[in-house]
Amino acid sequence: MGDRVVMPFNVACGFCKNCLGGFTGFCITVNPGFAGGAYGYVAMGPYPGGQAEYLRVPFADFNCLSLPAGKDHEADFAMLADIFPTGYHGAELAGVKPGESVAVFGAGPVGLMAAYSCLVRGAAEVYSVDHVKERLQKAAEIGAIPINYDEADPVQQIKERRRGQGVDKGIDAVGYQATKAGSSAVGGQQDEAPNIVLNQLIEVVSPTGALGIPGLYVPSDPGGVDESAKRGALSINFGRLFEKGLRLGTGQCNVKRYNAHLRDLIIAGRARPSFVVSHEVSLAEAPDAYRKFDQRVEGYTKVILHP
Ligand SMILES: NC(=O)c1ccc[n+]([C@@H]2O[C@H](COP(=O)([O-])OP(=O)(O)OC[C@H]3O[C@@H](n4cnc5c(N)ncnc54)[C@H](O)[C@@H]3O)[C@@H](O)[C@H]2O)c1
Repeated sequence: MGDRVVMPFNVACGFCKNCLGGFTGFCITVNPGFAGGAYGYVAMGPYPGGQAEYLRVPFADFNCLSLPAGKDHEADFAMLADIFPTGYHGAELAGVKPGESVAVFGAGPVGLMAAYSCLVRGAAEVYSVDHVKERLQKAAEIGAIPINYDEADPVQQIKERRRGQGVDKGIDAVGYQATKAGSSAVGGQQDEAPNIVLNQLIEVVSPTGALGIPGLYVPSDPGGVDESAKRGALSINFGRLFEKGLRLGTGQCNVKRYNAHLRDLIIAGRARPSFVVSHEVSLAEAPDAYRKFDQRVEGYTKVILHP
Protein backbone atom coordinates (compact mmCIF):
# COMPACT_ATOMS: atom_id res chain seq x y z
CA MET A 1 0.00 0.00 0.00
CA GLY A 2 1.48 3.33 -1.06
CA ASP A 3 4.59 1.77 -2.62
CA ARG A 4 6.23 3.52 -5.56
CA VAL A 5 6.37 1.05 -8.46
CA VAL A 6 6.85 0.93 -12.22
CA MET A 7 5.22 -1.62 -14.54
CA PRO A 8 6.49 -3.13 -17.80
CA PHE A 9 4.38 -2.37 -20.88
CA ASN A 10 3.93 -6.15 -21.13
CA VAL A 11 1.60 -8.13 -18.90
CA ALA A 12 3.03 -11.46 -17.73
CA CYS A 13 2.07 -14.17 -15.25
CA GLY A 14 5.52 -15.04 -13.92
CA PHE A 15 4.92 -18.80 -13.80
CA CYS A 16 4.43 -20.10 -17.38
CA LYS A 17 7.24 -21.78 -19.32
CA ASN A 18 8.23 -18.59 -21.14
CA CYS A 19 8.10 -16.34 -18.06
CA LEU A 20 10.20 -18.83 -16.11
CA GLY A 21 12.73 -18.75 -18.94
CA GLY A 22 12.91 -14.94 -18.74
CA PHE A 23 10.75 -14.39 -21.84
CA THR A 24 8.09 -12.30 -20.14
CA GLY A 25 7.23 -10.59 -23.44
CA PHE A 26 5.93 -13.98 -24.59
CA CYS A 27 3.79 -15.03 -21.62
CA ILE A 28 1.38 -17.79 -22.62
CA THR A 29 -1.05 -17.30 -19.73
CA VAL A 30 -2.29 -13.71 -20.01
CA ASN A 31 -3.51 -13.75 -23.61
CA PRO A 32 -4.71 -17.29 -24.39
CA GLY A 33 -3.86 -18.50 -27.89
CA PHE A 34 -1.04 -15.98 -28.28
CA ALA A 35 2.43 -15.58 -26.76
CA GLY A 36 2.51 -12.12 -25.19
CA GLY A 37 0.22 -9.60 -23.52
CA ALA A 38 0.51 -5.80 -23.27
CA TYR A 39 -1.52 -2.75 -22.30
CA GLY A 40 -3.36 -1.04 -25.16
CA TYR A 41 -1.73 -2.97 -27.98
CA VAL A 42 -3.49 -4.69 -30.87
CA ALA A 43 -3.67 -8.52 -30.51
CA MET A 44 -2.02 -8.34 -27.09
CA GLY A 45 -5.03 -9.13 -24.95
CA PRO A 46 -7.89 -7.39 -23.14
CA TYR A 47 -5.74 -4.80 -21.36
CA PRO A 48 -6.64 -1.12 -21.89
CA GLY A 49 -3.79 1.35 -22.39
CA GLY A 50 -1.69 2.43 -19.45
CA GLN A 51 -1.84 6.16 -20.12
CA ALA A 52 -4.51 6.73 -17.50
CA GLU A 53 -4.96 7.92 -13.94
CA TYR A 54 -5.38 4.38 -12.64
CA LEU A 55 -4.24 1.04 -14.01
CA ARG A 56 -5.48 -2.45 -13.17
CA VAL A 57 -2.39 -4.66 -13.02
CA PRO A 58 -2.90 -8.42 -13.44
CA PHE A 59 -0.39 -10.54 -11.48
CA ALA A 60 0.68 -7.33 -9.79
CA ASP A 61 3.12 -8.95 -7.37
CA PHE A 62 5.08 -10.19 -10.35
CA ASN A 63 4.69 -7.22 -12.70
CA CYS A 64 5.29 -4.29 -10.33
CA LEU A 65 8.93 -3.34 -9.89
CA SER A 66 9.42 -1.60 -6.56
CA LEU A 67 11.25 1.70 -6.47
CA PRO A 68 12.78 3.62 -3.56
CA ALA A 69 10.22 5.76 -1.70
CA GLY A 70 10.14 9.47 -2.45
CA LYS A 71 10.34 11.41 -5.70
CA ASP A 72 13.97 10.98 -6.74
CA HIS A 73 14.69 9.91 -10.34
CA GLU A 74 10.97 10.02 -11.21
CA ALA A 75 11.55 10.69 -14.95
CA ASP A 76 14.39 8.12 -15.12
CA PHE A 77 12.23 5.44 -13.50
CA ALA A 78 9.35 6.20 -15.90
CA MET A 79 11.67 5.13 -18.73
CA LEU A 80 11.82 1.63 -17.15
CA ALA A 81 8.26 0.90 -18.32
CA ASP A 82 9.31 0.54 -21.93
CA ILE A 83 12.02 2.36 -23.82
CA PHE A 84 15.06 1.88 -21.57
CA PRO A 85 14.61 -1.91 -21.32
CA THR A 86 13.64 -2.04 -25.02
CA GLY A 87 16.77 -0.18 -26.09
CA TYR A 88 18.79 -2.42 -23.79
CA HIS A 89 17.05 -5.44 -25.34
CA GLY A 90 18.41 -4.34 -28.73
CA ALA A 91 21.93 -4.32 -27.31
CA GLU A 92 21.35 -7.69 -25.62
CA LEU A 93 19.92 -9.30 -28.79
CA ALA A 94 23.02 -8.14 -30.67
CA GLY A 95 25.25 -9.29 -27.79
CA VAL A 96 27.06 -5.94 -27.56
CA LYS A 97 30.29 -6.27 -25.57
CA PRO A 98 32.86 -3.80 -24.18
CA GLY A 99 35.08 -2.30 -26.86
CA GLU A 100 32.79 -3.12 -29.79
CA SER A 101 31.51 -0.85 -32.54
CA VAL A 102 27.76 -0.65 -33.11
CA ALA A 103 25.46 0.95 -35.70
CA VAL A 104 22.04 1.84 -34.28
CA PHE A 105 19.41 2.68 -36.90
CA GLY A 106 16.71 5.02 -35.61
CA ALA A 107 17.23 7.77 -33.04
CA GLY A 108 13.68 7.84 -31.72
CA PRO A 109 13.19 7.03 -28.02
CA VAL A 110 14.06 3.34 -28.54
CA GLY A 111 17.07 4.04 -30.76
CA LEU A 112 18.46 6.64 -28.37
CA MET A 113 18.04 4.18 -25.50
CA ALA A 114 19.72 1.45 -27.57
CA ALA A 115 22.69 3.71 -28.30
CA TYR A 116 22.83 4.71 -24.63
CA SER A 117 22.64 1.06 -23.51
CA CYS A 118 25.52 0.13 -25.82
CA LEU A 119 27.61 2.89 -24.25
CA VAL A 120 26.59 1.77 -20.73
CA ARG A 121 27.72 -1.76 -21.72
CA GLY A 122 31.12 -0.35 -22.71
CA ALA A 123 30.89 -0.15 -26.52
CA ALA A 124 33.82 1.79 -27.96
CA GLU A 125 32.04 3.40 -30.91
CA VAL A 126 28.32 3.83 -31.47
CA TYR A 127 26.80 5.27 -34.66
CA SER A 128 23.28 6.66 -34.51
CA VAL A 129 21.47 6.83 -37.86
CA ASP A 130 18.38 9.00 -38.43
CA HIS A 131 17.39 12.14 -40.30
CA VAL A 132 15.56 14.11 -37.61
CA LYS A 133 18.04 16.77 -36.55
CA GLU A 134 16.92 17.12 -32.89
CA ARG A 135 17.19 13.36 -32.45
CA LEU A 136 20.67 13.19 -33.98
CA GLN A 137 21.62 16.07 -31.70
CA LYS A 138 20.47 14.07 -28.65
CA ALA A 139 22.51 11.10 -29.89
CA ALA A 140 25.60 13.29 -30.15
CA GLU A 141 24.99 14.61 -26.61
CA ILE A 142 25.31 11.11 -25.13
CA GLY A 143 28.49 10.37 -27.08
CA ALA A 144 27.16 8.56 -30.15
CA ILE A 145 28.29 9.56 -33.66
CA PRO A 146 25.31 11.00 -35.58
CA ILE A 147 24.78 9.86 -39.18
CA ASN A 148 22.12 11.65 -41.25
CA TYR A 149 20.86 9.23 -43.88
CA ASP A 150 19.39 12.07 -45.95
CA GLU A 151 22.94 13.27 -46.66
CA ALA A 152 24.35 10.02 -48.11
CA ASP A 153 24.01 6.23 -47.87
CA PRO A 154 24.47 5.54 -44.12
CA VAL A 155 26.40 2.31 -44.80
CA GLN A 156 28.96 4.23 -46.87
CA GLN A 157 29.13 7.06 -44.31
CA ILE A 158 29.92 4.60 -41.50
CA LYS A 159 32.43 2.60 -43.56
CA GLU A 160 34.23 5.77 -44.67
CA ARG A 161 34.69 6.79 -41.04
CA ARG A 162 36.06 3.32 -40.27
CA ARG A 163 38.56 3.18 -43.15
CA GLY A 164 36.37 0.81 -45.13
CA GLN A 165 35.48 -1.51 -42.25
CA GLY A 166 31.99 -2.36 -41.04
CA VAL A 167 30.87 -2.50 -37.40
CA ASP A 168 30.78 -5.42 -34.96
CA LYS A 169 27.07 -5.20 -34.17
CA GLY A 170 23.92 -3.54 -35.51
CA ILE A 171 20.57 -2.58 -34.00
CA ASP A 172 17.31 -1.88 -35.85
CA ALA A 173 15.29 0.58 -33.76
CA VAL A 174 13.15 1.66 -36.72
CA GLY A 175 11.03 -1.31 -37.78
CA TYR A 176 8.72 -1.73 -40.77
CA GLN A 177 7.87 1.98 -40.95
CA ALA A 178 11.37 2.83 -42.16
CA THR A 179 11.49 5.55 -44.79
CA LYS A 180 13.84 6.18 -47.70
CA ALA A 181 16.41 8.95 -47.75
CA GLY A 182 14.94 12.16 -49.03
CA SER A 183 11.53 11.55 -47.45
CA SER A 184 10.47 14.61 -45.53
CA ALA A 185 12.22 14.45 -42.13
CA VAL A 186 9.46 16.14 -40.18
CA GLY A 187 5.77 15.86 -41.02
CA GLY A 188 4.61 15.50 -44.63
CA GLN A 189 4.71 12.44 -46.85
CA GLN A 190 7.15 9.70 -45.84
CA ASP A 191 8.17 7.13 -48.50
CA GLU A 192 8.09 3.83 -46.63
CA ALA A 193 10.66 1.16 -47.42
CA PRO A 194 10.04 -1.56 -44.82
CA ASN A 195 13.13 -3.65 -45.72
CA ILE A 196 15.67 -0.86 -46.08
CA VAL A 197 17.11 -0.88 -42.56
CA LEU A 198 17.40 -4.68 -42.41
CA ASN A 199 19.34 -4.71 -45.70
CA GLN A 200 21.56 -1.81 -44.64
CA LEU A 201 22.35 -3.58 -41.36
CA ILE A 202 23.29 -6.75 -43.25
CA GLU A 203 25.72 -4.61 -45.29
CA VAL A 204 27.22 -2.57 -42.47
CA VAL A 205 27.77 -5.33 -39.88
CA SER A 206 31.07 -7.19 -40.35
CA PRO A 207 31.22 -10.95 -40.95
CA THR A 208 30.43 -13.01 -37.80
CA GLY A 209 28.64 -10.04 -36.22
CA ALA A 210 25.06 -9.86 -34.99
CA LEU A 211 21.88 -7.85 -35.46
CA GLY A 212 19.48 -6.94 -32.65
CA ILE A 213 16.02 -6.08 -33.97
CA PRO A 214 13.69 -4.55 -31.38
CA GLY A 215 12.12 -2.40 -34.15
CA LEU A 216 8.61 -3.66 -34.89
CA TYR A 217 7.73 -5.90 -37.87
CA VAL A 218 4.16 -7.13 -38.32
CA PRO A 219 2.60 -10.19 -40.00
CA SER A 220 -0.06 -8.03 -41.64
CA ASP A 221 0.13 -4.38 -42.75
CA PRO A 222 -2.96 -3.35 -44.73
CA GLY A 223 -1.25 -0.07 -45.73
CA GLY A 224 1.91 -1.90 -46.89
CA VAL A 225 3.85 -0.61 -49.90
CA ASP A 226 3.16 -3.76 -52.01
CA GLU A 227 1.36 -7.11 -51.85
CA SER A 228 4.24 -8.82 -50.03
CA ALA A 229 4.61 -6.05 -47.47
CA LYS A 230 0.86 -6.26 -46.81
CA ARG A 231 1.52 -9.87 -45.68
CA GLY A 232 4.58 -8.86 -43.67
CA ALA A 233 6.81 -10.66 -46.19
CA LEU A 234 9.87 -8.49 -46.82
CA SER A 235 12.65 -8.97 -49.34
CA ILE A 236 15.91 -9.20 -47.38
CA ASN A 237 19.38 -10.26 -48.54
CA PHE A 238 19.38 -13.58 -46.74
CA GLY A 239 22.18 -14.91 -48.94
CA ARG A 240 24.43 -12.07 -47.84
CA LEU A 241 23.41 -12.61 -44.20
CA PHE A 242 24.38 -16.29 -44.48
CA GLU A 243 27.60 -15.58 -46.38
CA LYS A 244 28.70 -13.22 -43.61
CA GLY A 245 27.74 -15.66 -40.85
CA LEU A 246 25.56 -13.05 -39.14
CA ARG A 247 23.20 -13.86 -36.28
CA LEU A 248 20.01 -12.00 -35.56
CA GLY A 249 17.58 -11.64 -32.67
CA THR A 250 14.10 -10.16 -32.75
CA GLY A 251 10.96 -9.64 -30.76
CA GLN A 252 9.11 -7.87 -27.98
CA CYS A 253 11.23 -6.79 -25.07
CA ASN A 254 11.16 -9.01 -22.00
CA VAL A 255 11.07 -5.99 -19.73
CA LYS A 256 11.16 -7.99 -16.48
CA ARG A 257 14.42 -9.59 -17.53
CA TYR A 258 16.23 -6.26 -17.41
CA ASN A 259 14.32 -3.68 -15.42
CA ALA A 260 15.61 -4.44 -11.90
CA HIS A 261 19.23 -4.10 -13.02
CA LEU A 262 18.49 -0.97 -15.03
CA ARG A 263 16.70 0.50 -11.98
CA ASP A 264 19.80 -0.15 -9.90
CA LEU A 265 22.01 1.58 -12.47
CA ILE A 266 19.75 4.63 -12.12
CA ILE A 267 19.88 4.52 -8.31
CA ALA A 268 23.68 4.19 -8.42
CA GLY A 269 23.89 7.24 -10.68
CA ARG A 270 25.36 5.23 -13.56
CA ALA A 271 22.42 5.69 -15.94
CA ARG A 272 20.20 8.71 -16.57
CA PRO A 273 17.77 7.67 -19.31
CA SER A 274 15.60 10.77 -18.73
CA PHE A 275 17.97 12.68 -21.04
CA VAL A 276 15.57 11.56 -23.76
CA VAL A 277 12.53 13.34 -22.24
CA SER A 278 11.71 16.47 -24.22
CA HIS A 279 8.31 17.43 -22.74
CA GLU A 280 6.20 16.79 -19.63
CA VAL A 281 2.48 17.54 -20.05
CA SER A 282 -0.89 16.79 -18.43
CA LEU A 283 -3.16 13.97 -19.60
CA ALA A 284 -5.50 16.58 -21.12
CA GLU A 285 -2.66 17.84 -23.32
CA ALA A 286 -1.86 14.32 -24.55
CA PRO A 287 -3.70 14.48 -27.93
CA ASP A 288 -1.73 17.55 -29.00
CA ALA A 289 1.53 16.03 -27.77
CA TYR A 290 0.77 12.79 -29.65
CA ARG A 291 0.20 14.72 -32.88
CA LYS A 292 3.47 16.60 -32.56
CA PHE A 293 5.32 13.41 -31.61
CA ASP A 294 3.87 11.68 -34.70
CA GLN A 295 4.98 14.52 -36.94
CA ARG A 296 8.38 14.67 -35.18
CA VAL A 297 7.99 18.44 -34.77
CA GLU A 298 9.17 20.92 -32.14
CA GLY A 299 11.69 18.43 -30.78
CA TYR A 300 9.01 16.03 -29.45
CA THR A 301 11.32 13.10 -28.71
CA LYS A 302 9.74 11.60 -25.58
CA VAL A 303 6.80 12.93 -23.60
CA ILE A 304 5.89 12.17 -19.97
CA LEU A 305 2.16 12.45 -19.19
CA HIS A 306 1.15 13.53 -15.67
CA PRO A 307 -2.32 12.14 -14.89
N1 LIG B 1 10.48 -4.75 -29.31
C1 LIG B 1 9.74 -4.06 -28.45
O1 LIG B 1 9.36 -4.56 -27.38
C2 LIG B 1 9.40 -2.64 -28.74
C3 LIG B 1 8.98 -1.78 -27.70
C4 LIG B 1 8.75 -0.45 -28.00
C5 LIG B 1 8.90 0.00 -29.32
N2 LIG B 1 9.27 -0.89 -30.29
C6 LIG B 1 9.46 -0.47 -31.69
O2 LIG B 1 10.74 0.16 -31.81
C7 LIG B 1 10.70 1.03 -32.94
C8 LIG B 1 11.20 2.41 -32.55
O3 LIG B 1 10.33 2.98 -31.58
P1 LIG B 1 10.38 4.55 -31.31
O4 LIG B 1 9.37 4.85 -30.25
O5 LIG B 1 11.79 4.99 -31.12
O6 LIG B 1 9.82 5.06 -32.73
P2 LIG B 1 9.96 6.43 -33.53
O7 LIG B 1 9.04 6.31 -34.69
O8 LIG B 1 9.84 7.61 -32.61
O9 LIG B 1 11.47 6.41 -34.05
C9 LIG B 1 11.87 5.79 -35.23
C10 LIG B 1 12.98 6.65 -35.85
O10 LIG B 1 13.48 5.96 -36.98
C11 LIG B 1 13.83 6.95 -37.93
N3 LIG B 1 13.93 6.32 -39.25
C12 LIG B 1 12.96 6.14 -40.20
N4 LIG B 1 13.48 5.54 -41.29
C13 LIG B 1 14.80 5.34 -41.02
C14 LIG B 1 15.87 4.80 -41.79
N5 LIG B 1 15.68 4.34 -43.04
N6 LIG B 1 17.11 4.77 -41.22
C15 LIG B 1 17.32 5.25 -39.96
N7 LIG B 1 16.33 5.81 -39.19
C16 LIG B 1 15.09 5.84 -39.73
C17 LIG B 1 12.72 7.99 -37.82
O11 LIG B 1 13.12 9.25 -38.34
C18 LIG B 1 12.50 8.03 -36.30
O12 LIG B 1 13.26 9.05 -35.67
C19 LIG B 1 9.24 1.01 -33.44
O13 LIG B 1 9.15 0.07 -34.49
C20 LIG B 1 8.47 0.54 -32.23
O14 LIG B 1 7.24 -0.05 -32.55
C21 LIG B 1 9.53 -2.18 -30.02
